[in-house]
Amino acid sequence: MDGRQTSARPAGDGSAYHLKAPTYNARLTEVGRGTPMGELLRRYWHPIGLVKDAAATPRPVKVLGEELILFRDGAGRPGLVYPRCCHRGTTLYYGKIEDRGIRCCYHGWLFDVEGRCLEQPCEPDGGRQRDRVRQPWYPVQERYGLVFAYMGPPERRPVLPRYDCLEVLEDGEFVEADDSSIGTGGVVIAACNWLQHFENVVDPYHVPILHGSFSGAQFVEQMAAMPKVKFEYGPRGVKSTQLRGLLEGGTFRRITEAVLPTLRIVPNPQVGRYGMVESIGWTLPIDDTHYRIYAAGRVREAGALGKMKSRYNGKTWDELTPEEHQRFPGDVEAQTGQGPITFHSEEHLVSSDQGVSMLRILFQKQLEVIAAGGDPVGVAFDEKDAYVKFDAGQYLE
Ligand code: FES
Ligand SMILES: [Fe+2]
Repeated sequence: MDGRQTSARPAGDGSAYHLKAPTYNARLTEVGRGTPMGELLRRYWHPIGLVKDAAATPRPVKVLGEELILFRDGAGRPGLVYPRCCHRGTTLYYGKIEDRGIRCCYHGWLFDVEGRCLEQPCEPDGGRQRDRVRQPWYPVQERYGLVFAYMGPPERRPVLPRYDCLEVLEDGEFVEADDSSIGTGGVVIAACNWLQHFENVVDPYHVPILHGSFSGAQFVEQMAAMPKVKFEYGPRGVKSTQLRGLLEGGTFRRITEAVLPTLRIVPNPQVGRYGMVESIGWTLPIDDTHYRIYAAGRVREAGALGKMKSRYNGKTWDELTPEEHQRFPGDVEAQTGQGPITFHSEEHLVSSDQGVSMLRILFQKQLEVIAAGGDPVGVAFDEKDAYVKFDAGQYLE
């Protein structure tokens, strides 16, 4: 299916007895190496940790279905390597960090941040053949307080983009990163497919229902009104403009964007500030059925990003009782409620799902582009083309 409206009518009297075995669209959802979406996502840089996560203690991370080890050598260089040592396979989780790299606990092979084997201490002369092996690795770069990794084909590696909304700072502002998954609605690791969350970014109609009524005017009051929405394709994704009339007169204009591969460009309604979007959230697929969000944003106070967590009935998600979770469902409940990977075969997309359809169509096109040997939307191979400006923000008119 391609995201267009489903036209099949229910059979007979709509009895559940007629339900067919459900299926999901694997091309759009599965993220492993060699899968269509997995290969598309691997053409971009993804945040895989905070700068402080790359440290002297090897840290296991899971990204796009791959288990990896993140570390920082004694010279301050971050490294991301395949966990199984290329000698005889023990895990570098038990490795020791040294000035020049990570040393395997078993026979002491030493690898630098690009996987080069520098020493084989049990071999004559420290390993005359050590250049013949290389520990599998991925390139990483640090920016905005995050560690970004590129896990795709080396010859297609793009430039790590810079974002205007994190580069142009007002007086007293600085950029901080957050790993508490702002935007999931409560949990740090959400137990469902990443696309369920990313589609939520282009679903502004759920705001007045889920957040304005079910979870009890969860955000600022004006968000509870049903908006007039316009969806458009931008240069890198899908943009939606939402207009809401205000009781005191004037119009509240809110622009949100879903930018490929996984960027949530959503002004935080709790910030109560007008103007350009203040943060970016990256929807990181951990594997096919889990995701988390890394964010970076402009703040005036350390820790301010993490405080933008959703509230339900005045409580944070963690403070709710099971009964309250049922009575005040938020984004986590709605999205994990769709199942580990939602059944696309059972959906009935309607006109208010236009943003979701447009996003799926955009992804499908990119899958075709890379299958034909091209480069997907938004990747740049030159620094001067890698500066990105968004339209997202909130405005009073
Ligand atoms: S298994 Fe790593 S050095 Fe032998
Ligand atoms: Fe939401």
